[in-house]
Amino acid sequence: MTKICCIGAGYVGGPTMAVIAHKCPSIEVAVVDISVARITAWNSDQLPIYEPGLDEVVKQCRGKNLFFSTDVEKHVSEADIIFVSVNTPTKTRGLGAGKAADLTYWESAARMIADVSKSDKIVVEKSTVPVKTAEAIERILTHNSKGINYQILSNPEFLAEGTAIQDLFRPDRVLIGGRETTEGQKAIQALKAVYAHWVPEERIICTNLWSAELSKLAANALLAQRISSVNAMSVLCEATGADVSQVSHAVGKDTRIGPKFLNASVGFGGSCFQKDILNLVYICECNGLTEVANYWKQVIKVNDYQKNRFVNRVVSSMFNTVSGKKIAILGFAFKKDTGDTRETPAIDVCNGLLGDKARLSIYDPQVTEDQIQRDLSMKKFDWDHPIHLQPMSPTSVKQVSIVWDAYEAAKDAHGLCFLTEWDEFKTLDYQRIFNNMQKPAFVFDGRNVVNVEKLREIGFIVYSIGKPLDPWLKDMPAMA
Ligand code: NAD
Ligand code: UDX
Repeated sequence: MTKICCIGAGYVGGPTMAVIAHKCPSIEVAVVDISVARITAWNSDQLPIYEPGLDEVVKQCRGKNLFFSTDVEKHVSEADIIFVSVNTPTKTRGLGAGKAADLTYWESAARMIADVSKSDKIVVEKSTVPVKTAEAIERILTHNSKGINYQILSNPEFLAEGTAIQDLFRPDRVLIGGRETTEGQKAIQALKAVYAHWVPEERIICTNLWSAELSKLAANALLAQRISSVNAMSVLCEATGADVSQVSHAVGKDTRIGPKFLNASVGFGGSCFQKDILNLVYICECNGLTEVANYWKQVIKVNDYQKNRFVNRVVSSMFNTVSGKKIAILGFAFKKDTGDTRETPAIDVCNGLLGDKARLSIYDPQVTEDQIQRDLSMKKFDWDHPIHLQPMSPTSVKQVSIVWDAYEAAKDAHGLCFLTEWDEFKTLDYQRIFNNMQKPAFVFDGRNVVNVEKLREIGFIVYSIGKPLDPWLKDMPAMA
């Protein structure tokens, strides 16, 4: 029986390994992590991450050929194939701080593999890493290899949160990069055989190591660039009376462009886009490619502009001050169908409003009170370090209350801000909400989730990203 071990039981390691175990009953899969809390949760009825369809897959395989454990060394030493899916956050200090990937967790995983291995291993980079990382990992592993043969493969993950299980069941492609030597090609075939249990052969792409590593950064950069492009258009739409949804629809009909990933928003979030673009920028700068670095930097600048613009719009619409006013925040996760808040635009928007002394009442169907309080009191980039996974008592932000109902959040509020596109927001009783709010009652839709016309009929003053401005707002002093 082939044995697989995955180091890192997070948003990628957990679902990816659960699907491998589900699709390959002949393979034994162990997912290991240094976080006791995370492993305990993976072994319980309350999984550590919310992902549609994940519970069923885990329940079918757990205890049969899927195991979650903190006994990292035992499982690593027994495995034939080791996936490394640890976090690779942005460095917070030292050389490259604020841009470069922090490979501390990766390096310590590699050193541990070298220490405990007694047989040949295929080591798979599942984490997103800077191009050329495999070379560094190879050196760490082979420095004191005791005659053990290591083959390093790059197998970046393309799943998106909220749709992880369907993405893993039917991936657009699986990418495997390896050395162009006989041993390297043999290792590629071994990993390909795992995916071939359910992925059609034509969807498994094999490349050299550097192409695979760089393709991951390139894919995320291109996806984020599309959002910043459409968000830049949303600003022009508001200035001219065009409607960004109509523009996206018309543009997306061009088969060369395609309809996906053209939704204007308050800004992209999530643990990957910003981190991976910063990483790409840093690699370009290290290679002396200033123009290329500046091109990609602009994608992040537009994203920051979009978040700031939203805050300015809220404040300027509400007579240039939100001091002491209650504002309901509907949705805190970085997108729907996940409880993940890493780099969610909600953090920047909430902090912006808190800076203007607003009182916030926050509702999200999947994010806990602790998580929100922690996010609002944490320094930028600190979230992606494992210490963050351990229980701790966050200092709560006084002007913030977290509630478990959209109606409760909206009660007596001056304004509603939609920051995540949860489906349930489409079917709320807006007349009831309007009746219980302060007047004038404002709606600021950062996700194009509400029916603007209907809400205006009820009496709301509505701002929706990239849509023609409410006549009421047009007359307000321009701040955005
Ligand atoms: P995560 O923070 O959810 O999980 C990483 C886990 O690794 C944590 O549980 C942490 O405790 C553990 N860990 C860290 N060092 C360890 C060590 N030395 N030994 C054992 N465990 C260790 O992160 P994630 O979202 O799963 O992302 C992991 C990697 O995958 C990152 O490089 C990320 O860029 C990439 N990625 C993420 C996504 C996504 O949607 N989240 C998608 C594609 C790729
Ligand atoms: C992304 C990539 O899509 C995935 O392939 C990679 O493996 C990890 O990073 P993820 O961050 O989980 O996945 O979600 P994604 O659906 O890409 O959304 C990222 C952010 O962009 C979210 O905040 C989302 O709301 C926003 N977004 C997405 C838009 O604002 N508009 C869109 O049209 C699409």
